[in-house]
Amino acid sequence: MRVIRCKDYKDASRKTANIISAQVILKPDSVLGLATGSTPIGTYQQLIEWYEKGDIDFSQTRTVNLDEYVGLAPDHDQSYAYFMNKNLFDHINIDKANTHLPDGTNRNAKEQCAAYDELIRELGGVDLQLLGIGHNGHIGFNEPSDEFVKGTHCVDLTENTIDANARFFEHRDEVPRQAYTMGILDILQAERVVMIITGESKAQILHDAFCGPVTPKIPASIMQLHPDFTLVADEAALSLAEGL
Ligand code: GLP
Repeated sequence: MRVIRCKDYKDASRKTANIISAQVILKPDSVLGLATGSTPIGTYQQLIEWYEKGDIDFSQTRTVNLDEYVGLAPDHDQSYAYFMNKNLFDHINIDKANTHLPDGTNRNAKEQCAAYDELIRELGGVDLQLLGIGHNGHIGFNEPSDEFVKGTHCVDLTENTIDANARFFEHRDEVPRQAYTMGILDILQAERVVMIITGESKAQILHDAFCGPVTPKIPASIMQLHPDFTLVADEAALSLAEGL
């Protein structure tokens, strides 16, 4: 694994955007695996800025997102589809028909999850997967568990995750209890994986995920085994990770 040390959030966002932009320049029809959460917002803003300057062309780029809440339609302002439009897709020249997320409105979990894995296969797999990390070590919505789940699946969100995501909803009760998420094998099969971790509040989980053993109790730890894994982190997030 490669570690890119950054000064702060802005620096980490620019470096991550640089990696994504290089990917799109080298392979314009890349399949980008994209993530939500507050961390990648700075990366998306930087990509938008470079697009506006004429430096990046997304016209052939395809995307698959990691996850979506079960029960939320794309026009719900807390759905991840809405997040992606607002924070990236509405501001660049990507063809929306080439952007994909699990369909949260499809309550048939088995059907929806199989369809999403099939879609990733049809696209030829993910060239570059962007990841954030939850405070409990989740990636996408792969929550801590006794085993890794391979393919796209429906998860019951942990209380920890519901609490963390409640800040985006008016009431905690409105936070969906389930989500569809790509599985660990889907993520491991991406050609390259870039994870962005910033801020002091993520220092402990960064340490646990990358300075300790690989375990499904900390899903992000599996990325230690990926052959092309880059961790982009700021000084605050790296503060407990001696030796990385
Ligand atoms: C959500 C997403 C994850 C993301 C996590 C961390 O739970 N499903 O993909 O990594 O939030 O979010 P943040 O970057 O806001 O800490």
